[in-house]
Amino acid sequence: MQLPKKLQKKLQNREENNSLRRLYSKGNHVDFSSNDYLGFAAKKKIFEQAHKILEEREIYQNGATGSRLLSGNYKLYEETETQLKEFHNAEAALLFNSGYDANIGFFSAIPQRGDLVFYDELIHASIRDGIQMSNAKAYKFGHNDLDDLQNKVLKLGSSKNSMAETKIYVVTESIFSMDGDAPNLERFVLFCKNHNCHLIVDEAHATGVFGECGVGLLQALNLQDQVFARINTFGKAMGCHGAVILGSIDLKKYLINFARSFIYTTGLPPHSLATIQAAYQELINTSQVEKLTQNITFFNSKVEITKLKSQFVKSNSAIHSCIISGNENVKNVAAKLQENGFDVKPILSPTVPRGQERLRFCIHSYNSKEEISEVLELLATFVQA
Ligand SMILES: Cc1ncc(COP(=O)(O)O)c(C=O)c1O
Repeated sequence: MQLPKKLQKKLQNREENNSLRRLYSKGNHVDFSSNDYLGFAAKKKIFEQAHKILEEREIYQNGATGSRLLSGNYKLYEETETQLKEFHNAEAALLFNSGYDANIGFFSAIPQRGDLVFYDELIHASIRDGIQMSNAKAYKFGHNDLDDLQNKVLKLGSSKNSMAETKIYVVTESIFSMDGDAPNLERFVLFCKNHNCHLIVDEAHATGVFGECGVGLLQALNLQDQVFARINTFGKAMGCHGAVILGSIDLKKYLINFARSFIYTTGLPPHSLATIQAAYQELINTSQVEKLTQNITFFNSKVEITKLKSQFVKSNSAIHSCIISGNENVKNVAAKLQENGFDVKPILSPTVPRGQERLRFCIHSYNSKEEISEVLELLATFVQA
């Protein structure tokens, strides 16, 4: 059956704007694009340990068989949630099937009609989608701009906040997925404390990257007890799949009862949980977090030497963005890097705002110094030509 004309038109517009999304198979290029920051996704030791975990418990089961609220809950879930809450120093942990599910579940269920949500303008699409599904009013604030947040909370929240029933939620990411930068979390925490706001932080790109054993940025700053909820995902540095919401026991109880993306979906298969457990065990033993930190420092020093600093968004994380405006321009530079064996992805508008198109470099513990030097030297010849 034919695609309706108006949908065909939308695809045609994407083609014309050079912004049509396509699926590509992974090639043999040097990896500067995956979220597998520590190389855990392909680590045999983790794969084997996951099997060992299942065999030791005599679990020979492929699927969860139902929602966790019906037939899909089992002991390995409880074990994994205990491991996660202990590792992340939280009162309670609730697993979700993905970070996307965790965010839509949380933001569609927690803020109520009459509440206010303030979100960073560059917040991840999964949080935006969750907010859209909620009955609360939502306002964006400038990226990492605490002054803007303060103005908006004081203007829009003060009259409302006098009503004890109105709650204010503030949401940010500890590392932003497109810019790789971070808000001043200490100041955000203090502001939220002083203005009676509930702070939620998405740690997707900080998990496995910051703090001792990759505990995340909030724990690295000892702020974990000062936030209402944390969302940590496993599809990035943990190299597997799923996500956890960390918070109070009551928050967990509430989400089990009201988060629709938790309730109305089949639970994760045992193999997924065993892999999460094995990946977290590996975090405690690995030297990869340290190697990643060294590579990030090396990348930044090389950006200075190659005189590319003004093109890059400042970042101490694994994500580094070189702004090259225009979909066609950024696609051309990415294609040239790819021709030379480097997998660096162009990020196009509308994924990022027009004019902010960029090459997004993801740094890994397994990238060599030579690879980092070579790709940046090559980039310099293209963008400075
Ligand atoms: C900041 C952020 N939150 C949430 C997600 C979603 O996580 P997942 O890939 O596990 O659905 C992503 C991944 O794209 C992300 O970058």
